[in-house]
Amino acid sequence: SPDLVSEATRVLMENWRGLYTVPASGLYPHQWSWDSAFIAVGLRHVSPRRAQQELESLLGAQWADGRLPQIVFASGRDDEYSPGASFWRSELIPGSAPVPTAGLIQPPNHAWAALLVHEADPEESRRRRFLDRAYPRLVAWHEYLRRRRSDEAGLAFTVHPWETGMDNSPAWDAPLAAVRGTFGGNVPRPDLRHADVTERPSNAEYEKYLSLAATYRDAGCDDSVAATPFRVTDPGVTALWIRSELALGRIAEELGIEADHADRAAALTEALEDLWDAELGCYVPVDRVSCEPQRFRSITGLLPLIVPDLLHVDELLGTLHGEHFRLGRSVLVPSFDLTAPEFDTSRYWRGPAWFNTAWVLVNGLLECGLETEARVLADTMGARAVESDFAEYLDPITGAAHGTRRFSWTAALSLDLHV
Ligand code: DGY
Repeated sequence: SPDLVSEATRVLMENWRGLYTVPASGLYPHQWSWDSAFIAVGLRHVSPRRAQQELESLLGAQWADGRLPQIVFASGRDDEYSPGASFWRSELIPGSAPVPTAGLIQPPNHAWAALLVHEADPEESRRRRFLDRAYPRLVAWHEYLRRRRSDEAGLAFTVHPWETGMDNSPAWDAPLAAVRGTFGGNVPRPDLRHADVTERPSNAEYEKYLSLAATYRDAGCDDSVAATPFRVTDPGVTALWIRSELALGRIAEELGIEADHADRAAALTEALEDLWDAELGCYVPVDRVSCEPQRFRSITGLLPLIVPDLLHVDELLGTLHGEHFRLGRSVLVPSFDLTAPEFDTSRYWRGPAWFNTAWVLVNGLLECGLETEARVLADTMGARAVESDFAEYLDPITGAAHGTRRFSWTAALSLDLHV
């Protein structure tokens, strides 16, 4: 609809900061890793050049070991977001980026986004040698995951709930409860100036978040020495990695480079099946400290729908349509099992429906050949985005808007499905 396209474009223009886009002015005043990749996917329809710059500015903050940081800090905004540049002091860490960043990572959706950005305007992309410059950095990023962040099965682990992108999912309750350290100092919550206290992670969670981040920072963010008390293998992270590995294969082809991305993706797909839970009918995260699977139905366990040649597609579609997520009868797709005692309609990743996971699932439905269902979910995203003023997340039962408004990926990903 003309409303969606013009309003979503306006949100992206408002949040553009010259070389990248903030997730939202106020609550998130810096550049976030997986946000930027999702934002580039929408921005490519407005300006392919800006979409390339969005990814290039993030790739420019890559560390020597290949990691892409969770956050690249804008200067002079240190008291607006916690933990900021003065918490991380990344300039003191050998091999960090030339600009201040966080030391953690986020889910690897970047190569997938880079391919989509290229496809929006291949001529402009070739003229600027976008893929030639992005490819080696994206390869180094995946190598980081493979060499520094993989368990024996070959699946990447995350060392902090922030790294999963789904900060306070009930799936992290047990691994977090087992983390003994707690943050001694005062816990700054500038986020509560921009969103209601019932819509954000709790103070108790924040104490653990800061304690975990400080432990990792104090070990120099060195994965070989950091004894990370939180260590989780996540199906959503794995699914995005696989999709991005396949995208790297396409990018290599475009560049005439021989590489084994397809084999890597196949090996990861095989390893992903270890996370299948037949009784729950979805994939589940595994706590690598306690070795316990976290047996919940959460949105992360549905994201493997984007992986080609998955073994359990029919069961997974059954779970998406059944009483736990109610596709088509709930609003978008809830982030957590509607029937579980932990389900919460408004608290961040404990139930609310998010637009990025809906976009991933639209692509998952397309991967399964379910074009009509994909269209219906895409149309719902567009309507809900406009009506909520591009809310960060929604009550999955009533559709009430939560979190911040004029949120960049809500605008970008709804736009992507409507041009
Ligand atoms: C936040 O600050 O809530 C973000 O999710 C962390 O990346």
